[in-house]
Amino acid sequence: MNKAAVVTSLLQGLSREPIVERAEAFAPANIALCKYWGKRDIELNLPVNASLSVSLGDLGAHTRISVIQDDYDKVVLNGKEVEKDTVFSQRVRQFLDLFRTSASMRFCVETTSTIPVGAGLASSASGFCALARALDQLFGWELHASDISILARLGSGSAARSCWNGFVEWCLGERQDGMDSKGVPLDLSWPGLRIGLWILDAHQKPISSTEAMQHTVNTSPFYSLWAAQQHQDLMSLKTALFDRHFVRMGEIAEANALAMHALMLSARPAVLYSSPQTVASIQQIWDYRRSGLSVYFTQDAGPNVKLLFLQQDEAAVLEAFPGLCVVNPFAMETSHVS
Ligand code: PMV
Repeated sequence: MNKAAVVTSLLQGLSREPIVERAEAFAPANIALCKYWGKRDIELNLPVNASLSVSLGDLGAHTRISVIQDDYDKVVLNGKEVEKDTVFSQRVRQFLDLFRTSASMRFCVETTSTIPVGAGLASSASGFCALARALDQLFGWELHASDISILARLGSGSAARSCWNGFVEWCLGERQDGMDSKGVPLDLSWPGLRIGLWILDAHQKPISSTEAMQHTVNTSPFYSLWAAQQHQDLMSLKTALFDRHFVRMGEIAEANALAMHALMLSARPAVLYSSPQTVASIQQIWDYRRSGLSVYFTQDAGPNVKLLFLQQDEAAVLEAFPGLCVVNPFAMETSHVS
């Protein structure tokens, strides 16, 4: 099955004509505490394992969309038009291809990201989810959030989790068409939880997550161990979250991220996202933890680390790690400290 067939089946009976001139939507970025690393269906972005994330409140993508009379789609990111032949613009255009009513229909997509530049989160997740939401409004479909999650997944896997605030599980599903592989919000809030974005390196990653993921699946001799471990981590993580057991949650999230990076290191040739600063910062986190500070981390497809801690330790964490961008995922507010 291909993406176009999924879209056709999802939008059956719905209008393919815009009902407004311009639509605008927001979607938060999300950080996985239990990672997605590997696709069982590359075309539909269906994962090998379920994953679980926390959304970052008001940090994410604001996207405006309109239909324009032009030869090409116009893609604007943070006020600057993106060149047609960049990977970014091509990914957006290929996604838009799924929704054109005629081959000559063109869109203007303007995205403003509220994520700090270089946080390793200029992520496709919030971008594709915001775009799917904006399309929903442009065409007046009024889709359920879980259907938007399916559309967003077709743009980028982790975007399936950006359709809600708070904790979201991206269910594995078992259908070939992926209609059951979508985000489901967890009925639980944790107002005391804090996430610290620690920007160590603002450079573009050397290899995209899509490419690195597939390379790991294809070449790591340990990949077959990943899915089983992931299932266990996900179960334990959910229990820790519902118990509001911070230490257990931190231990699982940290171990899960390290296992994902270890898996990448075992690919042939290896994929290494960590920089010397990443390693130094991990050691620093472990040193602080040994001295009694309850702080854990997670790391995605880049060198930056994201700290996990509780509100009660915020002052101590900021003293230990100055310059951290602190996110309160359950208050829709962020504070930037330098
Ligand atoms: O959705 P993608 O293709 O950007 O992959 C995301 C991969 C990780 O961020 C490393 C893990 C995750 O679950 O978000």
